[in-house]
Amino acid sequence: MRYEGKVIGAITVGSTTAKYIDAKDRLLIGYMANQVALAIIKAQLYKEEKEARLKLSALENISEAGLTTLSIDGMLNEIAQRIASNMNVDWSGIILFEDKHGMMIAERTSNGCSSMKGKSMSNGCGVIYDILVKGKTRVLKKNSLNDVKQHIESEIKSIAIVPINLRQDRACTVAIGKKTAGSFTDKEIQLLELLSSRAAFALENAILFNRLEQSYLDTIESLVKAIEAKDKYTRGHSEQVATLAQEIALVMGLDKDRAERIYTAGLLHDVGKIGISSGVLCKPSTLSPEEYDEIKLHPIKGYEILRPIRSFNDLAEIVLQHHERFDGSGYPRGMHGHDIFFEARVLAVADAYQAMISSRPYRKGLPIEQAILEIRKGAGGQFDPEIAKIFIGMLKQEQKSSRSSKPKNIPSDSTVRS
Ligand SMILES: [Fe+2]
Repeated sequence: MRYEGKVIGAITVGSTTAKYIDAKDRLLIGYMANQVALAIIKAQLYKEEKEARLKLSALENISEAGLTTLSIDGMLNEIAQRIASNMNVDWSGIILFEDKHGMMIAERTSNGCSSMKGKSMSNGCGVIYDILVKGKTRVLKKNSLNDVKQHIESEIKSIAIVPINLRQDRACTVAIGKKTAGSFTDKEIQLLELLSSRAAFALENAILFNRLEQSYLDTIESLVKAIEAKDKYTRGHSEQVATLAQEIALVMGLDKDRAERIYTAGLLHDVGKIGISSGVLCKPSTLSPEEYDEIKLHPIKGYEILRPIRSFNDLAEIVLQHHERFDGSGYPRGMHGHDIFFEARVLAVADAYQAMISSRPYRKGLPIEQAILEIRKGAGGQFDPEIAKIFIGMLKQEQKSSRSSKPKNIPSDSTVRS
């Protein structure tokens, strides 16, 4: 059998009779052999094309993991899930290491396990460390993985582990597991290595992004400290507003994560004041209309500072809206009612209350009873009536239980301009 002049096989024919295989028969057999050769080549090409398409689709699928999230834990989870489903294996796991000291930074498996964070590779994870140092893929039985085996699904019998060196002093291992005994094929190992290198690329991007974001956050933290140093009346204000806003959120039934987000927004709500001149910001007397206009720029300045951080986009918007009023008379955009983010409406109540009870050089802080009256008066105007009602209830409850004239977390000597 020939294909493009190359012999790819042979057909043997025989006869049970004494009939001689003549030239006509040989011609027919030759023709049939060529047709069979063509069919075999077509089947091979189809198989190869199908495998190539599957490989390409798996590669695309792993690359897409980089689009779903930029958190390290989220990325590891996506990779573990996607490697397991694309390779059609029973289990997959990925561990991220700090490569110099072998410390596990994070890990995720397709069955949801994640409990080795902070563990050193030298402590019971010698096999994995060895794979990482030698830089070669290995196939082994689960039992040879010592302490790590308890983190692998119990029915898994054989494991293949690929080591990958990442930039920025990081490394990772990607593993797959089968419940059936027996080894992995060369093609499976090749595909695992290919998908792992693609996954590593997405992971490196996430690591880089998180480092950049962390450095930006550190800068913002420094800015908040700089404002506090610049304006002694702001000192502690942001933290007190953050605590109050978080308490309101929790009382209103928001989940812990969202309440924590409100706390962070509270810490950052006045970050834009870094862009306000000290003469205006620290003026110990009432502001002129022009000076007040300058102060009113701080939500926009805060928005511009926070906006470049992708995971802070919602916080930037909350900061922008924290001086909006429920009746539309606030600034900078004059937003109305529920068009204003819930988080910003909560911050507005906490911020105003904290400012009211604080003393300034030009006025004394209001007693809590008086501040409660002001919040009640502003319900539906300056404040969301529902949030104002709940906050007043919280203050009254606190007064009742503590029988004190001062609420928790709010020192009476703190002074602030909201
Ligand atoms: Fe403010």
